[in-house]
Amino acid sequence: MSKGHRKISAIDIGTTEVRAIIGEITDADQLEVVGIGRASSRGVRKGVVVNIEAAVDAIKEASEEAEMMSGLTLDAAFVNLGGVQVKGMNSRGVIAISRRTREILDEDVQRVIEQARAVSVPTDREIIDVLPQEFTVDGQDGIGNPVGFLGMRLEAAVHIVTSPITARQNVISALNRAGIMASDTVVTHLAGTESTLTPDEREYGAAIIDIGADMTNLTIVHRDAVRHTAVFPMGGNHFTNDIAVGLRTPVPEAERIKRVEGCAMAVLMGDKERLHMVEVPSVGGRQPRMLSRQILCEILQPRAEEIFSHALEEIQRAGFERQILSRVVLIGGGSMMDGIVEMAEQVLDLPARHGMPDFVGGLMGDIDSPIYATVVGTLLYGFHKQMNSKRIHSFKDSTPRQSKWWERMFARR
Ligand SMILES: Nc1ncnc2c1ncn2[C@@H]1O[C@H](COP(=O)(O)OP(=O)(O)OP(=O)(O)O)[C@@H](O)[C@H]1O
Ligand SMILES: [Mg+2]
Repeated sequence: MSKGHRKISAIDIGTTEVRAIIGEITDADQLEVVGIGRASSRGVRKGVVVNIEAAVDAIKEASEEAEMMSGLTLDAAFVNLGGVQVKGMNSRGVIAISRRTREILDEDVQRVIEQARAVSVPTDREIIDVLPQEFTVDGQDGIGNPVGFLGMRLEAAVHIVTSPITARQNVISALNRAGIMASDTVVTHLAGTESTLTPDEREYGAAIIDIGADMTNLTIVHRDAVRHTAVFPMGGNHFTNDIAVGLRTPVPEAERIKRVEGCAMAVLMGDKERLHMVEVPSVGGRQPRMLSRQILCEILQPRAEEIFSHALEEIQRAGFERQILSRVVLIGGGSMMDGIVEMAEQVLDLPARHGMPDFVGGLMGDIDSPIYATVVGTLLYGFHKQMNSKRIHSFKDSTPRQSKWWERMFARR
């Protein structure tokens, strides 16, 4: 493989921030991060690009920072697709291989996936990914990749993810206008699992909860496949608003207080912390007030309980008894508040931990945070794909359609 092919990049266009990473694949086929960039998001609402021009500026800013750090150009990137309107569902397909037993080929797998994805989708939505769960050959189930098996009948169980058609188009257009080709897209839910779950957690079951800005993504992985995905419209910004409204303080102050003093579980605090006084600026030029951290936590705790109660309902709706899962993994900026992990454990009655991005080397010190789990997962998705990993990850219609070449030419700087 030439040196040019050994560069790989990923971009996460979040509601709060755009994050760009450039990685290099070493001679030993290890993935190393060599450049990182971040920029405040513009033109993104609830995980969806709503103003392409504004998003382009933020994408350029983040990618240029990553280029500066690495000395490499970021001209193509894997990108994750999410948003509050993403929906997931399970489906099955079955095909006959032939009248006589023969080896299953790649074409057969494509054909059974086509069968499985033949679900009705409203005209304004599209299937953005089909994630295989398992294959069954002549009644033998639990097969990860059936190619090479002998059989007459092939069945597939898949998880289908759909999204409004414009959501994907806008992400690709924004990237292209920033001079970046979309190498491929990956569902945000899947990206989060790639960088955080251990092989045991994948096998014995884990729920990944990504608390973003205005939404929370839930992904259930069990027996090495995505079994359920859900999005609910509640995220880290709701904590900020609760402080702003509850304490009548401007939103930027509420955001600062949340990050510095916030706590999701009051009982975890000792007496000293409980009585620690927090200065709360007032609106309309009035004098700031002093409040104990205890009161601040009493405002934040019900919201944290609400988020995890939603997650619990979804887990139960998906038919997963808590006992089937081995762990809850928390990612996203909203998971950074003190006491969130403990609150997740209490509401979900499962061991919980933060999901630090893993499985890559290089400049990881700089991105060792649950906030980077998604973009690192997108990079890992691209890495596995580029290395032709044996694991079957996802099936799509085709590679993403790019904008017209002249739009990209003129957009680049
Ligand atoms: N240290 C912190 N403590 C508490 N909350 C934090 C902290 N850092 C960030 N947040 C909150 O995390 C939220 C943003 O999370 P994140 O950066 O994962 O979102 P995003 O990826 O940009 O958006 P999306 O919702 O589209 O995924 C914001 O509400 C922000 O206030
Ligand atoms: Mg995010």
